[in-house]
Amino acid sequence: MSKIAVAVLNRKGGVGKTTIAVILAEIALVRHNRVLAIDLDPSRNFTDALGFMRNYFRNSLRVKSTLEESDADAPEEWIVIDCPPNLEEDSKYAIDFADIVVVPVRPDFFSLSNLGVMYSEANKSGKEKSQLPLVKVGYDSSVMTKIANQLISERGYPVAEDLPLHKHIPYNITSGRVWSTGLIARSRQPYEHLYDKIVAAVERLGTGVTDINEVWTDKKEADTEDADI
Ligand SMILES: Nc1ncnc2c1ncn2[C@@H]1O[C@H](COP(=O)(O)OP(=O)(O)OP(=O)(O)O)[C@@H](O)[C@H]1O
Ligand SMILES: [Mg+2]
Repeated sequence: MSKIAVAVLNRKGGVGKTTIAVILAEIALVRHNRVLAIDLDPSRNFTDALGFMRNYFRNSLRVKSTLEESDADAPEEWIVIDCPPNLEEDSKYAIDFADIVVVPVRPDFFSLSNLGVMYSEANKSGKEKSQLPLVKVGYDSSVMTKIANQLISERGYPVAEDLPLHKHIPYNITSGRVWSTGLIARSRQPYEHLYDKIVAAVERLGTGVTDINEVWTDKKEADTEDADI
């Protein structure tokens, strides 16, 4: 497998960036990849949450707090970058560096209203819109979710995954017990699905596919459709 660099970014705080970064790193490690975790947020939440895994995956997990050009030559198969809730220089460089920028959004105006700036920043780095997919966090049956979904489809934002809220996730993440206690299958499955979709998206982008729907098509669904023909 070729190297995958994923950044997790939204200027809005508290939308689930670090949680996604931690779980993606964990899945990559459990699936026998080496991981370079880069924590660009001075709060160091990502670094702290990786504490336990750092002990266990001593030889396959490296954690640092700066992103450098030379990281492109890092030996790890996965680079996971957790960004601070801003669009300052570090975040801009992460957009430039990463193959995929995962953008978690809650069903509220604040996490959706600033996305235009981020996409134009990405455009300056020559990134395709399909390289910055949204990940919906906690989209339910509320009116606000309906409005947020409408806004997302009107603006043509790509969507990679829907992550439901689970009350034990904050405990597992903040206590650094992601791997040791494990997330129960039901809450873990959407993150595994996101991981698989990122791998597939990077492969497709590598072959020159940029169409949003094609890049983020669920591989299994696509395969099943093909099988029916
Ligand atoms: N799927 C989820 N289910 C339940 N709680 C979640 C989920 N994802 C994140 N949270 C919780 O929401 C809160 C904010 O999450 P997190 O710290 O990952 O956001 P963030 O975007 O990284 O925040 P910041 O901008 O401050 O860095 C945390 O308490 C976290 O445990
Ligand atoms: Mg964070």
